[in-house]
Amino acid sequence: MRRRTRHNEIAAGGGRCVGSWAGTGEYLPVDAASRPPLLAGLRRTYEGLPLLEADLAPDPVAQFAVWFDDALAAELPEPNAMVVATSSAGGRPTARTVLLKHYDEAGFVFYTNYESRKGRDLAENPRACLLFPWHPIRRQVRVEGSVVRLPREESAAYFGSRPYGSRIGAWASRQSAVVHSREELDRRYAALSARWPEDPPAPDFWGGFRVVPAEVEFWQGQLDRMHDRLRYRRSGASWVVERLAP
Ligand SMILES: Cc1cc2nc3c(=O)[nH]c(=O)nc-3n(C[C@H](O)[C@H](O)[C@H](O)COP(=O)(O)O)c2cc1C
Repeated sequence: MRRRTRHNEIAAGGGRCVGSWAGTGEYLPVDAASRPPLLAGLRRTYEGLPLLEADLAPDPVAQFAVWFDDALAAELPEPNAMVVATSSAGGRPTARTVLLKHYDEAGFVFYTNYESRKGRDLAENPRACLLFPWHPIRRQVRVEGSVVRLPREESAAYFGSRPYGSRIGAWASRQSAVVHSREELDRRYAALSARWPEDPPAPDFWGGFRVVPAEVEFWQGQLDRMHDRLRYRRSGASWVVERLAP
């Protein structure tokens, strides 16, 4: 309960703001004459209640659950949207937003096309970094770890729970491939929905990935850039917590 109370204070705009940003997270329209705003001048003052070692849950998944509940309570838009960074075997990094669909002690799960760019990266280099940028509550969570595919039955069960249109869309999209036109995509969608007017099966090329955390960092913005950063690092069967300089 204590955590929720503290969080609500943060969500209610405990931070002081400078530039064109209001404490509520609203962006105030700027006078046309001053457009475009100078990026160098866009900054916010971050002020949250301290994140202390003594307040942390014993493991990072339990701590993530506390913060995820806070993000929900703060009504962040898409709090389960996360940036997933991958890299090819040759070390070429890239990143994109995906939705977290499940998490537990085993790890963090998202669904995608296994033949997409991220799918190909993860086939040759099964490591990823997840980033939850929860700006309005001045928080960020970073997860790093190894990646495994979900068992086929689990992916198929989740696929079956998706709306019909999303299931056909998954079949219609050769995710990350070049398409010649929007019409080409729409034709594929129409042909596949004619083929399966209901209950399309789960494609073999589509399914879940689980990121098994090796490190999870919780970042809480504070005044004067003296932010709190606490990182859990897996050490054998337990977790070590370390404070990092901001
Ligand atoms: C809010 C949001 C949520 C998204 N969720 C997913 C998702 O859960 N799975 C997915 O494959 N792509 C999702 N996307 C699209 C990806 O960002 C990306 O365009 C796509 O997966 C192809 O990425 P890749 O070419 O790097 O593999 C989402 C995009 C946004 C903006």
